[in-house]
Amino acid sequence: MTTKRVLVTGGAGFISSNFIHHLLAKTPYEVVSLDALTYAGNLENLSGVMSHERLSFVHGDIRDADLVRDVVSEVDVIVNAAAESHVEKSIAEGAREFVTTNVEGTQILLDAIREAPVERFILISSSEVYGTAERAPMDEEHPLNPRSPYAATKAGADRLAYAYHVTYGLPIVIVRPFNNYGPRQHPEKAIPRFITQALRDEPLTVHGDGHASRDWLYVDDDAEAIEAVIAAPIDAVAGEVLNVATGIDIPVDDIADLVLDALGKSGSLKSYVTERPGQVDRHVGSTEKMERLTGWRAGTSFEAGVARTISWYRDNEAWWREILQSETQHVSSS
Ligand SMILES: NC(=O)c1ccc[n+]([C@@H]2O[C@H](COP(=O)([O-])OP(=O)(O)OC[C@H]3O[C@@H](n4cnc5c(N)ncnc54)[C@H](O)[C@@H]3O)[C@@H](O)[C@H]2O)c1
Repeated sequence: MTTKRVLVTGGAGFISSNFIHHLLAKTPYEVVSLDALTYAGNLENLSGVMSHERLSFVHGDIRDADLVRDVVSEVDVIVNAAAESHVEKSIAEGAREFVTTNVEGTQILLDAIREAPVERFILISSSEVYGTAERAPMDEEHPLNPRSPYAATKAGADRLAYAYHVTYGLPIVIVRPFNNYGPRQHPEKAIPRFITQALRDEPLTVHGDGHASRDWLYVDDDAEAIEAVIAAPIDAVAGEVLNVATGIDIPVDDIADLVLDALGKSGSLKSYVTERPGQVDRHVGSTEKMERLTGWRAGTSFEAGVARTISWYRDNEAWWREILQSETQHVSSS
């Protein structure tokens, strides 16, 4: 494996921080991370590797074209994962930051590689671009019917990246991960929310009747998948869209039960709240193309992944309590 310099945007967030831990442990790559440290970015996520000799961290915004040009000129591979990532925030607080970071930020990075070519550019898109499954499993040809402002901005960035490949012949790969879970995920997202609610003996809030199902991907499996996309022959993957999925979907209600069971808590802690507007009913991804083009398939069962995730939240209570506390302060002062 040859050494490459890999720019990972959004490195202090959930997926990118796990990916950076993975790259430093399992590959000889040098890693540069660019992160604006929004409410979702947490340098604690990189504790233990911040002073690693193969990691450099740049505090900055992907919407800053001058900075992006400088950073991009120094790297071989880009993994663009920086984003506003929370569906409910895009509904409740408006889409502005989602449009500027997710779409305009991607455009600024894409324009930077027109000036300073890279070996490959991997856009971390999302399965949310598909909307509710019209067929199962959903393959990469499934229509794009994004159902939330977040999902629409991801679809915009996804198609913009594709257009830059077609128009300018740039080596771009579009990756659509399904729902990730695992250590270091902000407690606003479903699985860590359930775990941290159960650990505090607070009600586990399930939207609607909890029937909405997702294809749940353990974050270390996602890290291996992105590494496989970096390693694949570029001619095999340039211009392609690749689902990163397990091929199995599980309803949200079952997850609440699993978490309560694993923590020995009463089922009465489950509480049903109003259905989320723009809810996606069912998501399950086809794994065939990703396996055919890169050889990757998910290796972690849902039960094993959830058990590891619960252990991590149990062992890192200070990490999530601090986030919850800063949110309470934010709400009470705003
Ligand atoms: N979490 C999932 O289940 C999932 C599934 C599919 C795709 N994705 C995509 O994967 C990527 C990572 O998701 P995540 O859950 O780790 O997100 P996250 O919210 O945990 O992390 C996002 C990171 O991006 C940084 N960031 C935000 N705006 C920025 C900007 N303008 N410039 C630079 N940095 C900025 C934040 O500080 C944060 O560190 C996103 O593109 C998301 O859309 C996530």
